[in-house]
Amino acid sequence: MKTTTLLISAFLSLLHGQLVKSCQERDYGWGSIVCVCDANYCDYYSGLGDAPTDPSTATITISTKDGSRFETSTIPVILSNFQEEAEFVISFSDSDTKQIFQGLGGSFTDAAAFNYMALSDDVKYHLVSSYYNPDVGINYVLGRVPMGGADFSWRLYTYLDTENDTELATFSLQEEDYDYKIPMIHDAMFATNRFYIKLIGSPWSAPAWMKTNNELYGQGKLKPEYYQIWADYFVRFLEEYFNVYIDFWAITGQNEPLDGLLPNFEFNCMGWTADEMRKFIAENLGPTLKNHSQFGNVKLIMMDDQRTQLELWTRVILGDEAAAGFVDGIGLHWYLDSWFGPEILSETHDLYPEKFLIYTEACEGDIPNPAAVVLGSWERGEHYAFDIIENLNHWVTGWVDWNLALDLEGGPNWAGNQVDSPVIVNATANEFYKQPMFYALGHISKFITPDSIILKNHVLQADPDNAKPVQVVVALRPDETHVAVLLNE
Ligand SMILES: *[C@@H]1O[C@H](CO)[C@@H](O)[C@H](O)[C@H]1NC(C)=O
Ligand SMILES: *[C@@H]1O[C@H](CO)[C@@H](O)[C@H](O)[C@H]1NC(C)=O
Ligand SMILES: *[C@@H]1O[C@H](CO)[C@@H](O)[C@H](O)[C@H]1NC(C)=O
Repeated sequence: MKTTTLLISAFLSLLHGQLVKSCQERDYGWGSIVCVCDANYCDYYSGLGDAPTDPSTATITISTKDGSRFETSTIPVILSNFQEEAEFVISFSDSDTKQIFQGLGGSFTDAAAFNYMALSDDVKYHLVSSYYNPDVGINYVLGRVPMGGADFSWRLYTYLDTENDTELATFSLQEEDYDYKIPMIHDAMFATNRFYIKLIGSPWSAPAWMKTNNELYGQGKLKPEYYQIWADYFVRFLEEYFNVYIDFWAITGQNEPLDGLLPNFEFNCMGWTADEMRKFIAENLGPTLKNHSQFGNVKLIMMDDQRTQLELWTRVILGDEAAAGFVDGIGLHWYLDSWFGPEILSETHDLYPEKFLIYTEACEGDIPNPAAVVLGSWERGEHYAFDIIENLNHWVTGWVDWNLALDLEGGPNWAGNQVDSPVIVNATANEFYKQPMFYALGHISKFITPDSIILKNHVLQADPDNAKPVQVVVALRPDETHVAVLLNE
């Protein structure tokens, strides 16, 4: 708790100092800039403040490839019938509503927490505040936490590696939790004025001895005789985190359940068919959570995998009354979004309107071109903005980015699966770099505040030569301000 105390005092001194600061630019020659945060400086931005006072003005906030970051100006709102000559018209109506927006977030992986803990306290404070501070940060409200090791760990482990310990007698959180993830989560909650983060727990693999292949990776499934012990493991995880004052909002049944069905899959995974997961949810995980009244309200998110699986997995799991009764939401990863259209999201919403859709993982650099980490890549920022806007227009309620922070090589990752992150830490210099992706996320999460209602919108774009249509999402915030987020590629 020592770190948390230090960070809270740092927060109080900043509260009374100058809050809003512009980007400290650095250009690495990859098309756009990054903003550098160090012990003495970090960029912070005001949002729209409280409810708007003057209906005759609108606030415009822009970020551009040539280096603007959340640059704000005010323009008069002219109410006239200008539609005829306008080049670009967005129309929407408060009565044409879609889903309630939950918010955005990032993932407290072992790697993210390792990079975080390598920084001095004042730099750590800037990192968590940049993401989670509701006023001057980008107002993150969600977070995902791997339950034990994943590829973004520096060793292979679970919380129950003692062979045949079916009593869970040796179940134990590890140094990765106590010395890295838990301190970072505490800071993200208590040092930023956020206090409650909607955390989502996801397992990558059961202990090797519970699996058909006796490995944490590769092609292997949970042995049927261990289904109930594996459900008990989820509850133990929730209890151990509860003991250190961390409450989980949701869990997913398995990170990317398809991975472990593939031969030679190279990092932590465990394979499930949709029907096996249906059985596990209906007979083990669902009842076990409900039987522990303390965790009876923890949301159960199914699938946690690519769009391509939506039709099959919802049909099998939500088509079964017993399993469907335990499921609250459907988790998606973005990796095949460019190849597989978003219509399946709306179709799924129409079939199961009571189950929320949420993105639980996305990152750039997984196809490393020109490298896993590209400092200042504007294209990667655009890709984030495009995907989030598209998803919000197809009933998705929230979007969780992958690692909150990675090192200069996009790790650590024991399996060599380095990727990019909106925040890259340079531990040697005790500084970090906010990538264009950070601002793309911020344009959504900072201005479309949680519990906003997404409105249907129609865009009329006159310029036929514009190869790429402008992407738009429109929302009505709880403070009754309208926000439109536009991406002009
Ligand atoms: C665990 O149980 C299996 C199956 O009963 C047995 O073959 C194995 O020797 C046991 N391992 C240990 C360390 O007791
Ligand atoms: C849940 O509780 C019910 C009623 O006490 C019991 O019958 C059932 O076996 C329990 N299920 C699990 C998975 O713990
Ligand atoms: C990281 O910091 C070290 C030490 O200041 C510096 O030499 C190096 O150039 C930095 N790396 C990047 C990518 O800025």
